[in-house]
Amino acid sequence: MSYVGLVGLGVMGENLALNIASRGFQVSVYNRTREKTERFVQRLPRGSAIVPTYSLEEFVSSLERPRRVILMVKAGRPVDDILDGLAPLLGEGDVVFDCGNSFFRDTERRQEWLARRGITFMGVGVSGGEEGALKGPSVMVGGAPSGFEESRAMWEAIAARVDNEPCAGYMGLRGAGHFVKMTHNGIEYALLQLIAESYDIMTRGLGMSVEDAAQVFREWRDSELGSYLLEITVDALSVVDEETGKPLVELVMDRAEQKGTGKWTSQTAMDVGVPVPNIDAAVSARIMSSLKEQRVNAARLYGGVRTRIEGDRRELLELLRPAYSLAAITSYAQGLALISEASREYGYGTKMLDVVKVWRGGCIIRAKLLHTIIGAYEREPGLVNILFDDEIAGLARELEPSLRELLRRVKTAHIPTPVMDAALNYITSLRRERLPAHVIQALRDRFGAHEYERVDKPGRFHSSWRPGS
Ligand SMILES: NC(=O)c1ccc[n+]([C@@H]2O[C@H](COP(=O)([O-])OP(=O)(O)OC[C@H]3O[C@@H](n4cnc5c(N)ncnc54)[C@H](OP(=O)(O)O)[C@@H]3O)[C@@H](O)[C@H]2O)c1
Repeated sequence: MSYVGLVGLGVMGENLALNIASRGFQVSVYNRTREKTERFVQRLPRGSAIVPTYSLEEFVSSLERPRRVILMVKAGRPVDDILDGLAPLLGEGDVVFDCGNSFFRDTERRQEWLARRGITFMGVGVSGGEEGALKGPSVMVGGAPSGFEESRAMWEAIAARVDNEPCAGYMGLRGAGHFVKMTHNGIEYALLQLIAESYDIMTRGLGMSVEDAAQVFREWRDSELGSYLLEITVDALSVVDEETGKPLVELVMDRAEQKGTGKWTSQTAMDVGVPVPNIDAAVSARIMSSLKEQRVNAARLYGGVRTRIEGDRRELLELLRPAYSLAAITSYAQGLALISEASREYGYGTKMLDVVKVWRGGCIIRAKLLHTIIGAYEREPGLVNILFDDEIAGLARELEPSLRELLRRVKTAHIPTPVMDAALNYITSLRRERLPAHVIQALRDRFGAHEYERVDKPGRFHSSWRPGS
């Protein structure tokens, strides 16, 4: 009998199954399309702990009780399709782990439905792409605590390890696992856009070659800015197209695609009332990039694009590095503030220290900065925003003038920097005790009688806002 079953042999499912089996847990696999299972098992070495099955009945009856089932299928309708087939075959005490990028509200709906049949449904965020799934992902488990405890040994065995600790953890009740993974992806959107903006400043703005830009990213990678995304940036920029001899990255169409997790993060942040402007800007930037035809037309209509930034290259690069650093810090700050507030509002009971600990290894947004953030949550577990930690505040104060000066210079050219701009506005707004929102309140009261509060006395007030009245 198998310890666990896995449905869905896409790239993630195949690699996760191989990882689980390599850790000594026998795993049964099933895929809707039979040929995929056949091709997968043909490639397996003899004696592998992977058992192919070709119907859901065969799959379920090959599992130890209580049964553990992992779903690794496309998010959305496919998860419901599979559950429609599986639920009648499962029963009291069985646990289903949805490891795809499902929307956390869908997860909560499924949890309620399956709980009525005695089945525990867990929403699990798995990050690290196909390589992570195979060698050690970051695993964010949410749902009933018993559902995590019961198979904790397996999650900890297959996850990445940092400082001898597994990057697998319990993120909280109900949809918390998928919520944390969604926000992880939102931060990932902001960081990817930030790298693209830095590349644009260096190449179009400062006229540097791709090789020279790669060298700057290499220096950042080897410094306190080091991160997985910088590692793969250095690699990617060094790849040359065999056909043309040009850097391959320059031959890639400038239309960024998306699968929805960034958009969900922005939408949810609006619902919860937490500003995540870096993430919003990154989602909008992807949408703008997808409007290629409109951009081509506008380029013709407006003409005169000048991308070269005036000034000394070395000086600008010295500003770019701290600017990048602060934009990255604020991206994590916004995502973490969202998780923290959502946990409070939705009653997830998420421990922020556990979130940042599972992000240290295996996942796409792993970075040296997370060690500083861990220190902040160790000092104050209930921190509302990491920018309120003394050490991080000191760092942000030091970096801010460079971001401001860089953007002042960049704005002399046609170089869009939506995430860097959002980062500067975020920190500038956060540190302003008084914002111009009083003007908005006055106008809302004028046209909609929405009332306003005063700074000098308590209560709600209404005025006509007409001169002389
Ligand atoms: N790729 C990544 O780097 C990554 C990273 C983290 C998380 N994820 C998430 O992990 C999940 C799996 O991703 P993936 O990239 O491996 O592949 P995918 O293309 O998202 O999903 C492929 C799997 O879904 C199955 N499937 C699709 N529609 C189905 C349906 N209606 N009923 C039953 N099965 C159906 C496919 O079965 P057939 O073979 O029969 O079509 C196949 O096994 C997704 O939720 C994805 O968002 C992916």
